[in-house]
Amino acid sequence: MAVWKSTFLSLIYLASPSLALFNLGVPGINWSYDYVVVGGGTSGLAIAARLAEDPGVTVAVVEAGGHYEIEGGIESIIPGFAAAANTGTDPSDDSLLIDWNFDTLPLTAANGRVLRYARGKCLGGTSARNLMVYHRGTKETYDQWAGITGDSSWEWDSVLPYFKKSCTLTAPDMTKRNANASVTYNVNAFDNSLDGPLQVSWPNYGSPFSTYVEVGLEEIGILSGQDTNSGYLNGSGWAPSTIDPSLETRSSSKTSFLPQFTLNFNVYAHTLAKKINFSGTKAQSVKVETLGISYTLAAKKEIILSAGSFQSPQLLMVSGIGPRSTLEELGIKVIKDLRGVGQNLWDHALFGVVNRVNVVTASRLVNDALAAAEALAQYAFQKGPLTAPGFGVLGFEKLPDSIRKHFTNSTREALSAFPSDWPEVEYLSLDGILDGWHSADDQDLGDGYEYGTIAAALISPLSRGSISISSADTTDPPLIDLGYLTHPADQEVAVAALKRARQAFNASGVTIDGVAEHRPGPDVQTDEEILGFIRSTIVPVWHAAGTCAMGDASNPDAVVDSNGKVFGVQNLRVVDASIFPTLPPGHPQSTCYMVAEKIADDIKNGN
Ligand SMILES: Cc1cc2nc3c(=O)[nH]c(=O)nc-3n(C[C@H](O)[C@H](O)[C@H](O)COP(=O)(O)OP(=O)(O)OC[C@H]3O[C@@H](n4cnc5c(N)ncnc54)[C@H](O)[C@@H]3O)c2cc1C
Ligand SMILES: *[C@@H]1O[C@H](CO)[C@@H](O)[C@H](O)[C@H]1NC(C)=O
Ligand SMILES: *[C@@H]1O[C@H](CO)[C@@H](O)[C@H](O)[C@H]1NC(C)=O
Ligand SMILES: *[C@@H]1O[C@H](CO)[C@@H](O)[C@H](O)[C@H]1NC(C)=O
Ligand SMILES: *[C@@H]1O[C@H](CO)[C@@H](O)[C@H](O)[C@H]1NC(C)=O
Ligand SMILES: *[C@@H]1O[C@H](CO)[C@@H](O)[C@H](O)[C@H]1NC(C)=O
Ligand SMILES: *[C@@H]1O[C@H](CO)[C@@H](O)[C@H](O)[C@H]1NC(C)=O
Repeated sequence: MAVWKSTFLSLIYLASPSLALFNLGVPGINWSYDYVVVGGGTSGLAIAARLAEDPGVTVAVVEAGGHYEIEGGIESIIPGFAAAANTGTDPSDDSLLIDWNFDTLPLTAANGRVLRYARGKCLGGTSARNLMVYHRGTKETYDQWAGITGDSSWEWDSVLPYFKKSCTLTAPDMTKRNANASVTYNVNAFDNSLDGPLQVSWPNYGSPFSTYVEVGLEEIGILSGQDTNSGYLNGSGWAPSTIDPSLETRSSSKTSFLPQFTLNFNVYAHTLAKKINFSGTKAQSVKVETLGISYTLAAKKEIILSAGSFQSPQLLMVSGIGPRSTLEELGIKVIKDLRGVGQNLWDHALFGVVNRVNVVTASRLVNDALAAAEALAQYAFQKGPLTAPGFGVLGFEKLPDSIRKHFTNSTREALSAFPSDWPEVEYLSLDGILDGWHSADDQDLGDGYEYGTIAAALISPLSRGSISISSADTTDPPLIDLGYLTHPADQEVAVAALKRARQAFNASGVTIDGVAEHRPGPDVQTDEEILGFIRSTIVPVWHAAGTCAMGDASNPDAVVDSNGKVFGVQNLRVVDASIFPTLPPGHPQSTCYMVAEKIADDIKNGN
């Protein structure tokens, strides 16, 4: 890795305008602003930038981390390094500066495993850590949000303009991709005339392994040609990525939204928000700390929490908003007893079938110096595997009746709570080994053979987790209970999904005759054995959401209203993945940006 760094670091720094270290405003201690946004992550920078478009308002962003391009290095910039950039689940690896390095509580239904759970700690937040898939949920996902919140403005037709507003789409460059890695998309799902800051494009590389996965999925009835941004998910396809096509580098909320030369916008980097200060029930200021110095930033209009699904509920709780019993136990003065804070944690989790394969995979780069040198040379021309962030073809399915009929009645009934267009399983094609994803190096065995994975993710999960706190100090990590597989329906769906992934692999033509399955392996056959394998290898897709859920005022579990305003207090909103009432199927970053765009408009319109 060291060679790559020295070769590319200076080049990329020079080329990237987002690396200007400071915007023009100079942040001052004890200043007051119209809006104080806590968390300069995916949603936080998007809403802060939109609010600052009005030169008459002042905006401050408080962010615990700094510049990922510097503190995270090229692994955080070059798409092909995203999977290798320490997104493993090893709880002992604290090497990464741009991550919070949170560990979960033991997973009670997954062998008591404790997992590292990636969360960005930098400007850009988790958009600087993610695997860059960009696609949207299904129509009925958002229509259901409208029902849950009692606000029709969350319907698909009404939120689509905000999805469009946030991003610009660049068509695939088929002169650089393999001819058989062609993509399907709908130009009308985007509107480039709006100049959306986030860059969405296809990598200049389509993994050959993925082309076989596409064949295998088709064989089991998941048809290729999926357009993933028009509100339905019922086939397989190459979703676009948040990649800036001008350089083939990561497009994060930082590179896309953070204003550079704006006098009404200040960033307080490396600054930890400690507490929201209230006057009665009116949020007034945020107590923060920079390099050991404590001070407050006052909000003349509003404080907006965008600290993510783990830390927005943490900040609410340490400030006196949350379940009364939790707060009183820790001696926190209750400002508003809201039992839903930290509850309703939704997440997607995955596991996979691994085989030796007969095509060259990108994971070869981990151990093969020659292949790595070649990839590096290609990247200089914006081509090759380093332009692609990990997952290739994605497939979505509502499990067919032939499988569903074997489920217990209670599982079928539980699954019927999901809208009709909401798939239960997402299959992800991955160059390399996904087997518990303990550390990035596990993707390649270094034995000279090629391996590929068809992973399955549970995207209509019924298990719920929660976030709580162990102290009144945000320096202490929140308590993260993911709850994976605690609902019996998830166990049944998981076993069925693993069998489907096996079938797709078998039909793909990419396995090698006479070579036994690598994982779970031929010994794992009965449902019980398969479930045991899943319990021992299930890992996050890192999509945590829902812990400060939007809802109707009459719902005692709702934390914020349909404009993100926290119930029972004034001048305080939450705007990030924590307010999703449900976690859309697939990958959530598009929805984070949409939510930020939409609530920025609400605020501008006086809502
Ligand atoms: C490894 C990985 C891969 C992923 N892959 C994909 C993908 O391919 N596609 C996709 O759509 N989604 C993906 N996701 C999920 C997606 O990136 C997240 O859902 C999304 O970025 C969350 O945005 P957010 O605004 O809610 O929070 P974040 O972006 O996490 O922002 C929260 C910010 O608040 C800051 N903060 C927190 N507490 C404090 C405090 N007390 N004081 C100051 N600052 C604070 C944090 O440092 C952070 O910058 C992935 C996530 C991970 C981790
Ligand atoms: C900030 O405000 C606090 C509390 O009023 C005060 O103690 C401190 O001196 C102030 N700091 C500066 C630099 O003005
Ligand atoms: C797709 O093209 C690549 C590159 O030419 C090749 O390696 C692969 O075998 C092809 N895939 C299929 C399914 O034929
Ligand atoms: C997926 O759903 C869309 C929208 O309902 C429909 O047009 C399309 O034919 C469906 N595709 C498949 C493969 O069923
Ligand atoms: C918090 O708010 C109260 C009431 O407005 C005020 O008296 C106090 O000084 C504030 N504390 C800080 C740290 O700003
Ligand atoms: C499951 O439901 C079917 C009809 O929907 C019913 O006939 C059957 O008895 C049920 N099975 C159990 C175990 O309840
Ligand atoms: C794999 O495919 C072959 C035919 O190509 C079939 O005979 C066999 O049953 C399949 N095995 C599984 C586990 O699907």
